[in-house]
Amino acid sequence: MSKAITLLVALAGALSFMPAAQAQDAVAGEKKAASCIGCHGIPGYQASFPEVHRVPMISGQNAKYIVASLQAYKKGERRHPTMRGIAITLTDTDMADLAAFYEKHGASMIKPVAETPAAQPTPEVAALLAKGACATCHGVNYNKPIDPGYPKIAGQHADYLYVALRAYTVTGNAKVGRSNAIMAAQVKQFKPAELKAMAQYIGSLPGELRTVPQSRFR
Ligand code: HEC
Ligand code: HEC
Repeated sequence: MSKAITLLVALAGALSFMPAAQAQDAVAGEKKAASCIGCHGIPGYQASFPEVHRVPMISGQNAKYIVASLQAYKKGERRHPTMRGIAITLTDTDMADLAAFYEKHGASMIKPVAETPAAQPTPEVAALLAKGACATCHGVNYNKPIDPGYPKIAGQHADYLYVALRAYTVTGNAKVGRSNAIMAAQVKQFKPAELKAMAQYIGSLPGELRTVPQSRFR
């Protein structure tokens, strides 16, 4: 074999190996999720930090976003202490497996979501959403973001959405806050009451996010 061909063969081998190395394994993810269900698998389960709110629904969320958010906790870009403590223990493979599992988890529980929002916001909330151009990234129905690395937010718990929005406004706190440049630029133009009004509207919409009770997959 000539040197050039040897190189090509080696390259082809490397390329076909790469996706396999990163393959997501939902079955492996289900086993790894045993440590998540105590919070994410109990309908209505509440966290008390930094204030009482329901823990986010992650079943049905985009896999790419789940990985991105877990990496953000691991790196400390998201400073929530509990999720940081958990994310630090996860490898890249663990995150990919968990994300593959959660993206499809409980798919049979959901109805298709219409392309246009099921309920119109009040004129005040509509003006806020227009000012933030929220639909341009999260989708007109807030369930279909333009990039799978962005979250579905329709139907997410409104109290969690509000805590998350406020977190993007916090800087210089070791335990609270999220340093995401895109969302930080969005939220700083709003007052807390305006963030709350948007969270309430978006949380009221039908979406694909859900909490799958533990008993369903045992
Ligand atoms: C002790 C309770 C608890 C456990 C256990 C837990 N989580 Fe969480 N999780 C939370 C809370 C509370 C938040 C919201 C944190 C915040 O405000 O940023 C969260 C946030 C998340 C998010 C971000 C959701 C979003 O919409 O941005 C993901 C993804 C996530 N958790 C995945 C997991 C996975 C995977 C496991 C298991 C390996 C796990 N969590 C275990 C409480 C928990
Ligand atoms: C330019 C694109 C873009 C725009 C515009 C945008 N977002 Fe986001 N949004 C994102 C991205 C990307 C993330 C994930 C950030 C991260 O990793 O923490 C996000 C995260 C969020 C979250 C956290 C979700 C969760 O599960 O934790 C909420 C809530 C949210 N956005 C609401 C809004 C609202 C309300 C507006 C309008 C005021 C808005 N977004 C405008 C891209 C955008």
